[in-house]
Amino acid sequence: MKDLFEKIYRDKGPLGKWASHAEGYFVFPKLEGQISNRMKFQGKDVITWSINDYLGLANHPEVRKVDAEAGSQYGSAYPMGARMMSGHTSLHEQLQDKLAEFVNKEASYLLNFGYQGMVSTIDALVTKHDVIVYDVDAHACIIDGVRLHMGKRFTYKHNDIESIEKNLERATKMTEHTGGGILVITEGVFGMRGEQGRLKEIVALKKDYNFRLLVDDAHGFGTLGKTGAGAGEEQGVQDEIDVYFATFAKSMAGTGAFIAADKEIIDYLKYNLRSQMFAKSLQMQLVVGALKRLDMLRTMPELKENLWTIVNALQSGLKERGFDIGTTQSCVTPVFLQGSVPEAMALVRDLRENHGIFCSIVVYPVVPKGVILLRMIPTATHTLEDVEETLVAFSAIRDRLENGTYKRLSAAVVAD
Ligand SMILES: Cc1ncc(COP(=O)(O)O)c(C=O)c1O
Repeated sequence: MKDLFEKIYRDKGPLGKWASHAEGYFVFPKLEGQISNRMKFQGKDVITWSINDYLGLANHPEVRKVDAEAGSQYGSAYPMGARMMSGHTSLHEQLQDKLAEFVNKEASYLLNFGYQGMVSTIDALVTKHDVIVYDVDAHACIIDGVRLHMGKRFTYKHNDIESIEKNLERATKMTEHTGGGILVITEGVFGMRGEQGRLKEIVALKKDYNFRLLVDDAHGFGTLGKTGAGAGEEQGVQDEIDVYFATFAKSMAGTGAFIAADKEIIDYLKYNLRSQMFAKSLQMQLVVGALKRLDMLRTMPELKENLWTIVNALQSGLKERGFDIGTTQSCVTPVFLQGSVPEAMALVRDLRENHGIFCSIVVYPVVPKGVILLRMIPTATHTLEDVEETLVAFSAIRDRLENGTYKRLSAAVVAD
């Protein structure tokens, strides 16, 4: 009989196999100092473009003060137990009411983490008779939620309305046999390339097909829409989103997440969401911190305005310099370059070591072979000087990529 661990000794997995080359630098890097536009990486000052602190709340003095006071008042244990048993408080309820109001829904329910909460939400919304139709590029939390589903599921081509419709037809036929319903799942903003989910066109399909829509708006919440209520508000279809989901991990610079929907749906979910029924309640310090952050989202429109000043300067500056930033419709700013994985590594080293720019790099197999994706997250803490410095650096690295410098450098490393 085989040892269970044999496969682990043999194969570290698609990412793990790069550990000896990449760990500590390309993966698991240690960014040090307070979360802001400039931090330290391996002792050097870097402009950070890889932290989802969109509104700059992570290190805002008012937020830090409330976090510290809540920590001191409640400690990190309170409340103990799952919401249903002994972990429920008025402040949890208050936060839910305020979140629901902010995203224009009747009710909301807190989740301890976005990832786990989304998995659980999908699990609670469907039975084996139902069919799920979801975007092929959906976030891992959606994919993993769908994996729990005992019934049929169809993916549609990324953000492709024709493909959604084709799959809705298939799903409709299927549910005629199973007697179930259809759940469509998309993201409000796709976090890798920044396009918005085509919510307006998707909800228009409700005229012809009977389905419910669940939207993961992790990147849209706080950054899009007139009031910051997200991609649904931006596209004028918030009312047609049946279950709205967002995490506190981005604009809110915290931990936790929530779903919002009609009261009857939330009342059902709160008795059926296994991630909340069988796990300890969101800790009070996070609840109090989220109340403060939400209040700032509501009352300080300048945070979003500052964010968009930086987003617009960065995106238009890149475009003016001839960079391909794809089809982003959000703050997420991808920069597409052509080159091999070793060239990408040399390029990122150059960016970090010689230009003091820290951004995430995405290569094959996440993007097609030969594509280097530098993914940048602008925030309200960045300055126009940060943008200018970055644009100059990007022009320099593009020149070096095109004149073969990185090819030579990476060949030298391989030869070593
Ligand atoms: C689109 C999307 N959904 C869900 C999550 C998971 O949220 P959390 O970090 O709160 O688990 C993330 C990442 O944070 C995300 O980008």
